[in-house]
Amino acid sequence: MKIDVISIFPEYLSPLSLSLLGKAQNAGLIDINVHNLRDQAVGVHGSVDDTPYGGGAGMVMSAEVWGRALDPLIEDNSDLIILTPAGKQFTQPVAQELSKKSHLIFACGRYEGIDDRIRQYYSQPDFVNRNIRVHEYSIGDYVLGGGEVASMVMIEAITRLIPGVLGNPDSLAEESHNSEGYLEYPNFTKPAQWRDIDVPEILLSGNHAAIAKWRSEQAQIRAEKNRK
Ligand code: ADE
Repeated sequence: MKIDVISIFPEYLSPLSLSLLGKAQNAGLIDINVHNLRDQAVGVHGSVDDTPYGGGAGMVMSAEVWGRALDPLIEDNSDLIILTPAGKQFTQPVAQELSKKSHLIFACGRYEGIDDRIRQYYSQPDFVNRNIRVHEYSIGDYVLGGGEVASMVMIEAITRLIPGVLGNPDSLAEESHNSEGYLEYPNFTKPAQWRDIDVPEILLSGNHAAIAKWRSEQAQIRAEKNRK
């Protein structure tokens, strides 16, 4: 999978080369490129934003600058993802869907966001015919300083679902959000007693059927406690 990320703070995205994502890049499973939006800035001051039409607080990122950054990256079968707190909720099913794509482009807005004509322009029939899709996603109902952290959240959730990225793919089998409303059961490791708290006896029993039943009950209890 090819991933392009556009931001005015490319350094913010340096963690993308660490850990699993770093390994996946070295293994050639994913190819991540971060682009500095400022390279496309216009005018003597190199600005990337301007005041909003209609008035109001804050600044809006310029369509001209974003268009210049996006034109050379967009190709057939690209998915353009605009990060905004006003987007659709990003969830595990969305991560699963996006993990099957060949090329994701993340547009990290700052300030009051990106001129809406960027979304409109790349949603036109010419682009749709080339299988180019535009999405607006939010990672949750809170407002961040910009889309950078949100894009990293999405990239991490999406790429770990690509075959070969996780060292042990079995980890994907029984994790939270795998099916609607499912939260994973609590886990324990050695020692069997820590500060007077014992690991549940059943987990030491070796009785796999009983363990599976206990885990399923615990998953339900957790879901009711944490999500109701
Ligand atoms: N930019 C600012 N807040 C955001 C959020 N919650 N999700 C995605 N992008 C954002």
